[in-house]
Amino acid sequence: MGAFETLEAEATACTLCPLHRTRTQVVFGVGSATADVVFVGEAPGYHEDHEGEPFVGKSGALLTRLLHEIGLAREDVYIANILKCRPPDNRDPLPGEIEVCTPYLDRQLELIDPRVVVTLGNFATKYLLETSVGVTRLRGNRYRFRGRVLVPTYHPAAVLRGGTTKLEEIRGDFGLVRRTIDTRRAVPAPATAGTAPPPTGRQASPPNRADREAAEETSPAHVEQLGLF
Ligand code: URA
Repeated sequence: MGAFETLEAEATACTLCPLHRTRTQVVFGVGSATADVVFVGEAPGYHEDHEGEPFVGKSGALLTRLLHEIGLAREDVYIANILKCRPPDNRDPLPGEIEVCTPYLDRQLELIDPRVVVTLGNFATKYLLETSVGVTRLRGNRYRFRGRVLVPTYHPAAVLRGGTTKLEEIRGDFGLVRRTIDTRRAVPAPATAGTAPPPTGRQASPPNRADREAAEETSPAHVEQLGLF
């Protein structure tokens, strides 16, 4: 068994947090384990919990469509989540769940070793960039992340709620992903890549998904502290 399969087997048997009692199955991730691009969402929902695959519900249909629009299929990329098990009633991930579960994601990223990481929504963006700044403020730019490029964008569920403006914005971000892949094929990574953004601390998440995007830190100084590309 390779390192990636060993990690998946470990996650599949995980009982580190109480979500193991309510899950139908662990949703480890799907796609190519040698992908150039990894997408990171929040946590499995009802459909993902039943099918064992991330982003298979309505949000997943939008993600798949946006991928196609930039010439990618799900099989070309890797798709994972911050949490590998579904929180009951699709509630927000709790800090303790994020703490015990994210080592799986960190190891997935190390093993896949993608050039580009795309964070979908606040939980993935804040965790990976170690920031309290919300995705609405950060999206539209690229950031240095563990020797890679990170492109933050909205969670597809927020786009489904948010109408045409958010849809056009996420399309713009996917265009940035496409251009990043194309550019970084042609041009070697700069020697400075690999500087992790400085921690800016985390803030408590707002209580429900609808309020999440509205409760973001929007200070320009917070954004400038991060490793803008
Ligand atoms: N939302 C997520 O963040 N991840 C999924 O896998 C499905 C919905």
